Amino acid sequence: MTRVLYPGSFDPVHNGHVEMVETSARLFDEVVVAALINPAKGDGLFDLAERMALLDECFEHLGNVTTTSFDGLVVDLASEVGADFIIKGLRAVSDFESELQMAQMNSAISEVETLFLPTASRRSFLASRLIREVARLGGDVSSMVPDAVSLRLADRYAS
Ligand code: PNS
Repeated sequence: MTRVLYPGSFDPVHNGHVEMVETSARLFDEVVVAALINPAKGDGLFDLAERMALLDECFEHLGNVTTTSFDGLVVDLASEVGADFIIKGLRAVSDFESELQMAQMNSAISEVETLFLPTASRRSFLASRLIREVARLGGDVSSMVPDAVSLRLADRYAS
């Protein structure tokens, strides 16, 4: 039985993340999706509880996926949930540098290894930061995020 941890900021979760979770759910027995704090990204739009509530809605159709949130080191969460691997998605070469560094740091401070999965090219432009910005300025992001997120963004940015 292989259990993997898919961590991220998920502020908010978008269709590129959904693809990663659906792929992981096919490849592995169990997937734990976890909203964590990325200290480099500041406070964000949604708090951890809100992000996790959205993750719950988005992945309730997948029987082998559970969600959680955590305010600490991803390697500590990996050990807490008994994850065999951390999964990270790569959209482009630009992601690789920072993801490699995080994977190496996590491997230096724990036993957990990181596996990278490529994102489909048609979704490689998706980024939560850009989705927040476009939604805040009134653009249509409904094709880029699950319906629950689209509604929540509209609610948050309603004037
Ligand atoms: O979606 P993101 O912002 O690329 O996800 C990054 C995240 C949240 C996975 C990363 O910042 C993280 O692991 N944060 C938890 C704190 C931690 O373990 N930091 C050390 C990383 S080497």
